[in-house]
Amino acid sequence: MISKKMQDAINEQINRELFSEYLYISMQAWFANQNLDGMANWMDAQGKEERFHAMKFFNYLIERGGKVVLKAIDKPATDFGTPLKAFTEALKHEQFISKSINELMDLAIKEKDHASRSFLQWYVDEQVEEEASVDKVIQKLKMVGDNSQGLFMIDNELGTRVYTPPATEA
Ligand code: FEO
Repeated sequence: MISKKMQDAINEQINRELFSEYLYISMQAWFANQNLDGMANWMDAQGKEERFHAMKFFNYLIERGGKVVLKAIDKPATDFGTPLKAFTEALKHEQFISKSINELMDLAIKEKDHASRSFLQWYVDEQVEEEASVDKVIQKLKMVGDNSQGLFMIDNELGTRVYTPPATEA
């Protein structure tokens, strides 16, 4: 059975992952209002990914005999300024999530909870990908600057993203 301390920490993380979903669907709405439908699509996929992250923790906690306690989800921002500012905000958020995953891993190590260590490794690896995919968009947005044709091309490219749930168990 999972310790109370680890259970509480995972419940906090479930809340962070659900907030992540909230943040990205708020960005999705903002992009849709700017007629940047490809970027809205990218955020839609990102939001679904966050929901998967939350439910993976949720299911793990139950599997380990823990109790899922859902907390209130903070209100996300509704205005993101420019596409570059929005994606920069997303990267900042992913860096915060990576830090919180690392702290969970530190706790699992401290508690000699080998099952949680093994489980959390998936998230450690996932965060590398999460940060890299947002950073890639940021670099492209910086490359085109104020060029609307360039922005149009990036929007088209991001419109091709399709969310597919990871093959690992949910
Ligand atoms: Fe669930 Fe984007 O980290």
